[in-house]
Amino acid sequence: MANRQQPLVQVKDLVVSFGERRRKFDAVRGVSFDIHKGETFGLVGESGSGKTSIGRAIIRVYPVASGEVIYDGRRISGRIDKALDRQVTQKIQMIFQDPMASLNERAKVNYIVSEGLLSSARHLSRQQREDKVSQALMDVGLLPEFASRFPHEFSGGQRQRIGIARALVMQPEFIIADEPISALDVSIRAQVLNLLTDLQAQHGLTYMFISHDLSVMRFICDRIAVIHRGLLVELAQTEQLFRHPLHPYTRALLSAVPMPNPALERNKCPVVYDESVHDYQNDPPAWHEVEQGHFVRANQRELADYLRLIQP
Ligand SMILES: Nc1ncnc2c1ncn2[C@@H]1O[C@H](COP(=O)(O)OP(=O)(O)OP(=O)(O)O)[C@@H](O)[C@H]1O
Ligand SMILES: [Mg+2]
Repeated sequence: MANRQQPLVQVKDLVVSFGERRRKFDAVRGVSFDIHKGETFGLVGESGSGKTSIGRAIIRVYPVASGEVIYDGRRISGRIDKALDRQVTQKIQMIFQDPMASLNERAKVNYIVSEGLLSSARHLSRQQREDKVSQALMDVGLLPEFASRFPHEFSGGQRQRIGIARALVMQPEFIIADEPISALDVSIRAQVLNLLTDLQAQHGLTYMFISHDLSVMRFICDRIAVIHRGLLVELAQTEQLFRHPLHPYTRALLSAVPMPNPALERNKCPVVYDESVHDYQNDPPAWHEVEQGHFVRANQRELADYLRLIQP
């Protein structure tokens, strides 16, 4: 069970911008959340909402325009010293959506999986590196012999396992999984999700799971944050979010989730989110906790409605 006392990751007022001066555009517009040790934290939102930008800002691939990222009590955004940079490179790993595009096609699996070790664990002998690669391949359910093969010899699901082995070999604490199953056949998605869940238990990992699909997140996330155009609109424990979805954008996302009951599914009316429902001119929105651990972006009038919904 997740330790609720100690956040492993703290994202504070994060802004990520692209472009220069007058063409500057904020892809992430001031986002704050904590991720607890051992939990799976979901980040859901439509394409272009800023999910990947948040992940890349955490792993220092994108600079933060303002705000900060704290990891295990230490600021890792902005200028940091070399030793800390090396720790971040080892402890935080990312798994990507498209296993084909993210693997170097001309390199053998051995090289692909061990690449991170070449820079971060230079003291290792070749044999020690190969042993670590074998272990990582076995951990993700592949044969150690696969190390001498090329990525094109594998299926999509196996390639994603190679991508996971590549992260795992670093002995990370925190993994950002960016749409890790979206590009896979529906038939093998569950296998890869189960693998991620098993690895979490075995290695005590903390996950940030990025997806646009709430039906998948329901199974694996402890908490879910909903992002719309670079701003969080709602954050709650998974069961709270499904029981009391408050923000109209969350409701719209949920209306796209297939329901197990065919009668309900037939009568379902898809909700479309229209931002003009908010009257933010005279009554500006803020981030409110409406029940324990359940936050929503709302103005005063909306807040009153939401509280009535939660405590009828
Ligand atoms: N390197 C970049 N340079 C310029 N603009 C970028 C860059 N990366 C992202 N953006 C822009 O920032 C916004 C957020 O993009 P981001 O990739 O974070 O969204 P996302 O939520 O991950 O979307 P998707 O679900 O499609 O992966 C988009 O408008 C995108 O075009
Ligand atoms: Mg993305």
